Amino acid sequence: MDSKAKLAVVIMAAGKGTRLKSQRPKVLHEIGGKPLVAHVIAAASKIVAPAEIYVVVGHQAEKVRSAVAATGVRFVEQTDQLGTGHAIQCAREAIKSYENILVLSGDVPLIRPETIEQLWNFHQSEQAAMTILTAAPTDPTGYGRIVRKSSLWPDMIPTEVEAIVEQKALTPKQQSLAEINSGIYAFKTAPLLAHLDQLTANNANKEVILTDMAGLLCAAGEHVVAVKAADAIEVLGANTIAELVALDATLRLKTANRLMAQGVTIFRPETSVIDAEVEVVADTVIEPFVQLLGRTKVGSGCLIRSYTVIENCTLGEGVLVRQSCVMAESTIANGAKIGPFAHLRPGCEIGEDAHVGNFVETKKAKLGKGAKANHLTYLGDAEVGERTNIGAGTITCNYDGVHKHLTRIGKDVFVGSDSTLVAPVTLGDGAYVGAGSCITRDVPAESLAVARSHQVVKEGWAAARRAARQEKK
Ligand code: UD1
Ligand code: CA
Repeated sequence: MDSKAKLAVVIMAAGKGTRLKSQRPKVLHEIGGKPLVAHVIAAASKIVAPAEIYVVVGHQAEKVRSAVAATGVRFVEQTDQLGTGHAIQCAREAIKSYENILVLSGDVPLIRPETIEQLWNFHQSEQAAMTILTAAPTDPTGYGRIVRKSSLWPDMIPTEVEAIVEQKALTPKQQSLAEINSGIYAFKTAPLLAHLDQLTANNANKEVILTDMAGLLCAAGEHVVAVKAADAIEVLGANTIAELVALDATLRLKTANRLMAQGVTIFRPETSVIDAEVEVVADTVIEPFVQLLGRTKVGSGCLIRSYTVIENCTLGEGVLVRQSCVMAESTIANGAKIGPFAHLRPGCEIGEDAHVGNFVETKKAKLGKGAKANHLTYLGDAEVGERTNIGAGTITCNYDGVHKHLTRIGKDVFVGSDSTLVAPVTLGDGAYVGAGSCITRDVPAESLAVARSHQVVKEGWAAARRAARQEKK
């Protein structure tokens, strides 16, 4: 029998996050480029189907709902946030048909599915009413502490727990308790529901807190146990901005280590900012201070040089991105060379071996194989054919103040420097445009267009001017 058949996950995510001092609800603050609660949902989704995940929302509930609605989880409203125990009281209807529930905290984002499994397995093997995931971090201050039952044998750590004592309620003697409550639990639903109404705000926190359930169940003769997570980092919470950025650094270093283990070279990984879902293939080298964000994918043999920021882009193999490029929502084919100082705005497709050089801005631009725009150019709403050369300072005038228009440039075209191409306009295959031209009409294939004023040369003019000045004096 699948013992998980009657298992649900409840994620507590209704709190305001007062200690963050932020307008944004705590669980929507991001680490690794993803909201805290989204990390927890991702881990929970490895344990049960999204439809068995209930997210308790309250503070700015609509925002939290819409941020994670696409995952397919269900929601429970906690209109007033009276504490973590109250959050579970609000979920009573949702959980009553399940045999067991796992309770996760929306602000403990580094928890791994393997560790939730460990909690679940222990809970089952112990047949416990409540199983608490605990840890022993270097600094336990601020966390609830675990009071284990006293053991008959002095050297043995008992599995049974007597109570969880919140920081505010710690006696001087209890201050030294090193084992913390992670805020992650497994419950047998029947005893939990039987005692749920006994939770009150009559405690040091002045809130209806779920941690009181340990003492309640224990006093009722129920089996309450604790299992320690091997790595305390996984269960650290984000209550302040400082804790949040520390978790972000931990997560990003983990991502960098994962990529390095797969054969990617990341120099000075502590300076890189790589989002959790980024993929990079072996034999790519990433220099210091690079940001790879969103769902960026980088093929093998690429070199991403320093100070480049790439968001939601797909890079093929052997792509060179020189220093200080900004690239978003674009694809770059094998062997292309970008930068330094290039700006690829959304919707670009840079072809194989194409070059986009210094101070070039592109937007919705398609460059064919081997096409080059090496210096000081704007290509917006443009198609550039294979092997075409775009001279320095070329501008596509794609906007007439109301509408955007397309510039079509064929294959093997040569556009001379400092040309403006007023869209809509088409340059046929093999056409030439003289430097400094303002092109307003289509240029047929294989022809030359020059659209600039004629040069006037007045021989001896300079000497005559000097002479005229002498006379004046
Ligand atoms: C909680 C535990 C503490 C534990 C720590 C681990 C309690 C009383 N204390 O403290 O023992 O060591 O987590 O990180 O539970 N929430 C709601 N509704 C509410 C209040 C909170 O959904 O009414 C949610 C919050 O959004 C948050 C989670 O519950 O995601 C935990 O709440 P928080 O206030 O952060 O509890 P801690 O003080 O960290
Ligand atoms: Ca917390």
